[in-house]
Amino acid sequence: MSSPHLPIALPDLPIATVATIAPFDGQRVQIRGWLYGRRSKGKLHFLQVRDGTGIIQAVMFKGDVDEATFTLADHLSQETSILVSGTVRRDERAPIGYELAADGLTVVKEAAADYPISPKEHGVAFLMDHRHLWLRSRRQHAILRVRARIVKSIRDFFDSNGYLLLDTPIFTPAACEGTSTLFETEYHGQKAYLSQSGQLYNEANAMAFGKVYTFGPTFRAEKSKTRRHLTEFWMVEPEAAYLDLDGVMDLAEGLVTTIAADVLRDCGAELDTIDAIRSEVEEQKQLKPRREALALIQAPFPRIDYADAVAMLHKLGSDMPYGDDLGADDETILTQQFATPIFVNRYPAEVKAFYMKRDPARPDRALCVDMLAPEGYGEVIGGGQREDDHDTLLAAINKHELPVEAFDWYLDLRKYGSVPHGGFGLGLERTVAWVCGLPHVRETIPFARLMDRLRP
Ligand code: 4AD
Ligand code: MG
Repeated sequence: MSSPHLPIALPDLPIATVATIAPFDGQRVQIRGWLYGRRSKGKLHFLQVRDGTGIIQAVMFKGDVDEATFTLADHLSQETSILVSGTVRRDERAPIGYELAADGLTVVKEAAADYPISPKEHGVAFLMDHRHLWLRSRRQHAILRVRARIVKSIRDFFDSNGYLLLDTPIFTPAACEGTSTLFETEYHGQKAYLSQSGQLYNEANAMAFGKVYTFGPTFRAEKSKTRRHLTEFWMVEPEAAYLDLDGVMDLAEGLVTTIAADVLRDCGAELDTIDAIRSEVEEQKQLKPRREALALIQAPFPRIDYADAVAMLHKLGSDMPYGDDLGADDETILTQQFATPIFVNRYPAEVKAFYMKRDPARPDRALCVDMLAPEGYGEVIGGGQREDDHDTLLAAINKHELPVEAFDWYLDLRKYGSVPHGGFGLGLERTVAWVCGLPHVRETIPFARLMDRLRP
């Protein structure tokens, strides 16, 4: 029963969580959570209780509780916050292997009866408008747990490979990835821009510490409404002194195979949930079950020269002109030929950022690489070797019509102890979308920022 002086927990009863219920088998516990769903059959109520760590079924038998409690359980609205007590029992049929034989129910706060998200299929716009509530549902839960696991995997990978985590600024005085996608803001009387990439500062950090990485939010005023573009996304960017293009590809391959193995090992249940709850649109894509897809992510990934990639595309019917960047469709066609991700390297320098080192063997090409994910997921990593010669870099800054004064410190790195160096950026949301087999990056972050979405 609802009480104004409700304890945060029921007295004298251990608090169990769904995720860690196993050791409580046979014991009386309490679960503190919310009513996710319910159904009744004669003298039984089946309450789906979620507590943030998972969902457990509490079975309430009429004979085990008083009349008032049994009646109460029959009327509670979805998302009512509750404390449920009962005995944990093993149940092979339950998704988590256990259920709760309920013997008590306390309402913390009854939810309004019109909870907007019901089991029926809602449109995406509606769900995105209710993202603050949509987060509670099973599939979103699974996706965001995979995201968190990937973040941990990334951090563990770099930490254990001698890379030092160093954060780079978000307010910056100049562009990194080109001026067309900069968010501008007023900064105490001057103009500042939200960082598109921590790379340039990372290069300074690498010259100070050798091997570094930064992992934070980056911003692009993308005018594109595609399934791959957010305006605010998270990127992990390793950067290392004495690292050449091949080294960059080795590192990227190591990272991505580690992510796949970690998720496969630790998030099997989440992957199964995501596979089981797919919209019609997703089903039409006929993606591989995610466990199967991840098991295929094994090194080595093919390393394909840009010119060979273009030739392959032409054979596959694309009419993209040699010299252009690959479009999303080209990436899809190309990656469909391979089971693993691929590296397309040495793009024409003309279509790439100012900081890229040119290939000494073919100066029209940049020592850069994109990693393209299979199943049409396209570019998840971009990186390469950086221009390390002062005068060449200065000329590139001028050629790109960038303000030299904003890059004086960056040029200093080439004046004082310049070494060949490189790194890359992996987009977290695109990686999560691919790992989970999602049609759009909007579900991979709790609150997506898109060209046409700033709320909730
Ligand atoms: O290829 P990008 O633009 O590379 C850089 O920013 C380099 N400065 C990184 C570096 O070398 N340190 O972006 C890197 C990755 C892309 O491959 C993609 O995964 C992701 O960032 N990305 C986006 N993800 C979501 N929404 C967007 N608008 C994105 N733009 C890039
Ligand atoms: Mg790129």
